[in-house]
Amino acid sequence: MTASLTALLKPLAERQQPLRQLFAAEPNRAARFSAKACGITLDFSKNLLDDSSWQTLQQLAAQSSIRQLCQQMQAGAAINNTEQRAVWHTRLRQQDLQDLRLNGEDIGAAISACRAQMATLIDQLHQGTYLGYSGKPITDLIWVGIGGSLLGPQMAVEALTPYHCSPVRLHFAGNIDGAIVSDLTKQLQPETTLVVVASKSFGTEETKQNALALRAWFSAQGADKAAIARHFWATSANVQAAAEFGIVPQHILPMWDWVGGRYSLWSAIGLPVALMIGNDGFNQLLAGAAAMDQHFFNAPFSENLPVILALLGIWYINGFGCQAQALLPYSHYLRLLPSYVQQLDMESNGKAVDRRGQPLSDVTAPVIWGDAGTNGQHAYHQLLHQSQLKIPADFLLPLKVAHPLQDHHQRLAAHCFAQTQALMQGKTEQEAYQECLAQGMTAQAAAELAPHKASPGNKPSNTLLLDELSPYHLGALIALYEHKVFCQGAIWQLNSFDQWGVELGKQLSTPIYQALKAKGDAQFDSSTTQLIALFRQQNR
Ligand code: F6P
Repeated sequence: MTASLTALLKPLAERQQPLRQLFAAEPNRAARFSAKACGITLDFSKNLLDDSSWQTLQQLAAQSSIRQLCQQMQAGAAINNTEQRAVWHTRLRQQDLQDLRLNGEDIGAAISACRAQMATLIDQLHQGTYLGYSGKPITDLIWVGIGGSLLGPQMAVEALTPYHCSPVRLHFAGNIDGAIVSDLTKQLQPETTLVVVASKSFGTEETKQNALALRAWFSAQGADKAAIARHFWATSANVQAAAEFGIVPQHILPMWDWVGGRYSLWSAIGLPVALMIGNDGFNQLLAGAAAMDQHFFNAPFSENLPVILALLGIWYINGFGCQAQALLPYSHYLRLLPSYVQQLDMESNGKAVDRRGQPLSDVTAPVIWGDAGTNGQHAYHQLLHQSQLKIPADFLLPLKVAHPLQDHHQRLAAHCFAQTQALMQGKTEQEAYQECLAQGMTAQAAAELAPHKASPGNKPSNTLLLDELSPYHLGALIALYEHKVFCQGAIWQLNSFDQWGVELGKQLSTPIYQALKAKGDAQFDSSTTQLIALFRQQNR
């Protein structure tokens, strides 16, 4: 492995032939640079890639610790080395749980028990047999959590809207902005509301604050301790803190230290998904992810979807100096995917030191952003097409959709494909000039307008086609991005499973919060002191 990927890849990137030439030279390019697994087709032909650069990238993967790290992960080694934790989220979606032990503990039995407990609760909620303290069935469930305890279920619930079959309505409370709980408590009745506090640590300020506000709402409406116990559930690895909050042991669904927050959708954190699409649907989500795991573990690197995406990402970040990556789902239902992948990728690989604490010689993790197509085409795609920035983009499209508006779907697909084509081929100034003339402009007017209409092209993209957006395909898609992040972490030699960077902001917020409440002079840097003073003026 070379010391600096940038030093290896940058000279190659500088010599890379433009996309138009690459396509012209090889009629079969699309088929050669495509791969399919678990109902997901990846066309990566519109990337700045020729035989020689692709070979170099493949060698990079072969020389990296991807396979070794993967074996260590599956064997239960503490590959999250700064927290001395195993990384076993893939086990959560495994079907065969026989003899699955970690440090002497029967993990297989624990996962089965958790799945069964979830399924029972979902059945009771669906059948209306889970009764609130006044004897009425539960009609609403509030899921309180943030980060990995929110983004996955929120995204998956949205993505699987056509599969919803729950008589119980679902609400999410994440942000510490009081507007959320305040609005919810105006709409709902405690006697028919179930609250699930989702926090691996059970120490996250936002989640605790929202949970406390909801508990106070129950009390204010006359619910006693027993009534509150009936209406509050938790999913947490910190059973003691959940119990101290007032959640009875039989209402605490387990989490484990070997599952990172942003990898926890497959645990009881997936409960909102199971609620909305039913237990069978949730099992399909797990099955899709498990199928992608098998593909990742076994397929040769040249056909391995997570490896291919990982290599292309590194190619652009370290070879071309791209700092951003767009994620553009051409699916209304997948519109929360970019927020989900933001945490997955940026919290995992946004690091400055390697696994041993040594400074990294290469930039890692791009800024992930995006939204559902075609909305973005009328907003920020202008920058993708004509700015001097090169922003690689993943375009996603489900081939088959559940709704009956076929013409909409054909138009949506046409826009998706046209965007990747436009980014790839662009429009030369000469082509723009000829176009203007053909529209009847004078030669002078055409010459003046042509530079504005020209598009540089040569902008890379991947197209990911899902056979359909079913629970199975969504599971596979999420696992694909998880493993992409894993591979990149392995190649960059960093720990993708800790997130120490988020701690500083948390630490600093405590004295600031105290200063906002206190009346005395706040002693901080002059900007922070001024901000505190301005806040206090308006909140006397
Ligand atoms: O923001 C940091 C973080 O620790 C995430 O990694 C995590 O998903 C989120 O907070 C929520 O944590 P918890 O589930 O412990 O409340």
